[in-house]
Amino acid sequence: MKTLLIVFHTGGVKTAQMAEAVERGARTEVGVTVIVKRCAEAGPEDLLAADGLILGTPENFGYMSGMMKDFLERVFYACEGKVNGRPYALFVGAGQDGSGAVTSVERIILGLRLNKVHEPIIGLKELTPQTLQNCEELGAAFAAGLAMGVF
Ligand SMILES: Cc1cc2nc3c(=O)[nH]c(=O)nc-3n(C[C@H](O)[C@H](O)[C@H](O)COP(=O)(O)O)c2cc1C
Repeated sequence: MKTLLIVFHTGGVKTAQMAEAVERGARTEVGVTVIVKRCAEAGPEDLLAADGLILGTPENFGYMSGMMKDFLERVFYACEGKVNGRPYALFVGAGQDGSGAVTSVERIILGLRLNKVHEPIIGLKELTPQTLQNCEELGAAFAAGLAMGVF
């Protein structure tokens, strides 16, 4: 059984709602164990044990949230070279931009050599049903890909 790890931070509710939608989609795939953790609760052992990773963060000051950066700082050296090629995706809750969060996460993910299998989803302003549906579809497609071994 493959394991999908979803790690996210929220300072309010928006990124949490996106995470719930991603999780809902992922759980439609029965062949995958889905683990959801807040950044503060997750560590290198979680990433090492996962076959795939989906990250979720708000954009704060043109960057990923501080809690997401803390998570990535804690896992980086413990996981570097041990997770090469594993699939990864990202969702971002933002006010009017979101690109700074994407760039900052992707730069670190490049060092971890994870394999981006889906374009980032950026939820701007008020969350729309369409964005939540996109998040749900991301979770479902990611989990299905893991279960079928296509990544
Ligand atoms: C301290 C702070 C800094 C922010 N900086 C940005 C920013 O640089 N770009 C942007 O698009 N939104 C920015 N926002 C808006 C948040 O990204 C947006 O409200 C997001 O949906 C919050 O997600 P959350 O409810 O999961 O915490 C900022 C919000 C806060 C509180």
